[in-house]
Amino acid sequence: MKCKRCREKAIVQLRSHNTAFCKPCFVFFFQRSVERAIEREHMFEKHERILVAVSGGKDSLALWDALVDLGYDTEGLYLGLGIGAYSRASEAKARAFADRRGLRLTVVPLDETEDGLGIPTVAAATRRPPCSACGTFKRHHFDRAAFEGGFPVLATGHNLDDEAARLMGNVLHWQLPYLAKQRPVLTPTHPKFVRKVRPLFRTSELESATYAFLRGIEYVVEECPNSHGATQLVYKELLNKLEHQMPGSKLAFVTDFLSRGLPLFQSAPDGGLGECERCGMPAAGELCGYCRLVAEVGRRRTQAVAHS
Ligand code: AMP
Ligand code: FES
Ligand code: ZN
Repeated sequence: MKCKRCREKAIVQLRSHNTAFCKPCFVFFFQRSVERAIEREHMFEKHERILVAVSGGKDSLALWDALVDLGYDTEGLYLGLGIGAYSRASEAKARAFADRRGLRLTVVPLDETEDGLGIPTVAAATRRPPCSACGTFKRHHFDRAAFEGGFPVLATGHNLDDEAARLMGNVLHWQLPYLAKQRPVLTPTHPKFVRKVRPLFRTSELESATYAFLRGIEYVVEECPNSHGATQLVYKELLNKLEHQMPGSKLAFVTDFLSRGLPLFQSAPDGGLGECERCGMPAAGELCGYCRLVAEVGRRRTQAVAHS
């Protein structure tokens, strides 16, 4: 098998693109795909400061690496979710990546913030699945860090597999408001929100894992212990089976939705946002979703003490 670009011996075959590359050409292909996604979707420009949310996993570290190499002005953000050994290992990978390259990384340990709540504590107190509390906490701290740091853009490492699985879930349940918002660039709907972008939305998990490996990026390989059996993983498995039989299906599912499906779902009205009475971030009611969850933890704890 020969590299489609330089005719040297190929080391990576990408069936979805019907192509194969040697090491330097794959690195070029990956970075070029990221750059194209940024340019085509008008995600950001070279003069803008970008906050990259890094989890210590392959996608977000591959993204950060590619953005730096492409000459973008970036800083990293790592949220310590307090999920035991998994969080400790992820933080170590994110820190090591930044240190080795002399990049600036802000670490926000959730259990040391003013609310002092890590994800397991919130999940246990509210009896919610950890992932649902985690989503609310991540969104809040991403928004807050980007706003307070004066960044116009926040980039995450969501990849093609994530986008295809999310789309499948939204289509299976005809989640119209979510379908209307499923796009790689979310423009701010409030002055305290920043633009949120997913430059890897056309890049598969296989591609980011290959890129991370070839670039010598050390990343946390374990999945979050709470993700076992998560619905998203079921969708990913199904989509992988489909991809195996019909290479290119995932990319077509997502990109055809964006070009042909999404315009049909855009009528969902965006309610006007005020500011949260407690934290000052954008909110649809008196409190934002994050502060409502924190208040619920407080209430449940008080009830537990009263009943003990
Ligand atoms: P996930 O929701 O775990 O699939 O992660 C999606 C993206 O969110 C990752 O690619 C990162 O960009 C970001 N992310 C997830 N966890 C963290 C974290 N603990 N700190 C910072 N960013 C994160
Ligand atoms: Fe949020 Fe696992 S990363 S619960
Ligand atoms: Zn709030």
